[in-house]
Amino acid sequence: MSTNNKSASAKAKPITAPDIRAMKNGEKICCMTAFDYPSAMIGDQAGMDLLLVGDSLAMTVLGHEDTLSVTVDEMVHHTRAASRGVERALLVADMPFMSFATVDKALENGGRLISEGRAKAVKLEGGVPVAPQVKALTQAGIPVMAHVGLTPQHIAEFGGFKAQGKSADAVKTLIEDAQAVEEAGAFCVVLEAIPVEAAELITESVTIPTIGIGAGNVTDGQILVYNDVLGFFDRFTPKFVRRYADLGAAAREALQMYCADVRRTTFPGDKNTFYMPDDQLAQVRKIKVKSKKK
Ligand code: KIV
Repeated sequence: MSTNNKSASAKAKPITAPDIRAMKNGEKICCMTAFDYPSAMIGDQAGMDLLLVGDSLAMTVLGHEDTLSVTVDEMVHHTRAASRGVERALLVADMPFMSFATVDKALENGGRLISEGRAKAVKLEGGVPVAPQVKALTQAGIPVMAHVGLTPQHIAEFGGFKAQGKSADAVKTLIEDAQAVEEAGAFCVVLEAIPVEAAELITESVTIPTIGIGAGNVTDGQILVYNDVLGFFDRFTPKFVRRYADLGAAAREALQMYCADVRRTTFPGDKNTFYMPDDQLAQVRKIKVKSKKK
């Protein structure tokens, strides 16, 4: 198994929510989603500061058409798997649609993502309306990453996956949202699919780091979805994605080669085959079997 660029014996110091909170200092925060053990391990080894088990896994891993139907149980299951792959990055779990509709629900479900899922923080979508949930979670000892702008759990209200914050009024609302979650105790806030000018204003108006996805290069950090970056999800690609590899195509090609080898009987080869020890071979040859071949 490959190891990361650090020596295998030197265990990296885990990044905490306060560490991320303190990174509003010009140093860019590198974030990525991770949905299971291998993606978390690869993201951690690549040097991510924060790994998010995003509810986008509903689409990228479970094949749903949006993020609305993933359950808390499913998020716990994926988060727990991802937690086994992480040594250094801060592992954050997304709270699914309606799982934080009230303060009580937020505490119960947020608590499960931490105690059963082994996340170190949770993320939830929304601004002013969810400030009480952010406050309650933070006071209960659960660090919260907030998320404003295009919040995919609100696509019915937005009329689809549409960029937000395109008017002066909308920008004022976004600033109020970001300030409300900061005030409530969030340690950072995701800004999704908003104009760069709006992102710049919001970033200036809060003391917590902003993590952009489709918000230009003015935010304190960036996050993208693993499957988009690596070319594993091609149902649609948002404008804000940069694809760094086409592993979907590479995987398909490799599997086609395997199929072709099986069909022309060049796999398995000698190197993939176990053979009887010489001292047993003569005995084995004497075993009589009744052929069932027609
Ligand atoms: O679910 C998700 O992937 C997100 C993004 C911020 C990356 O919420």
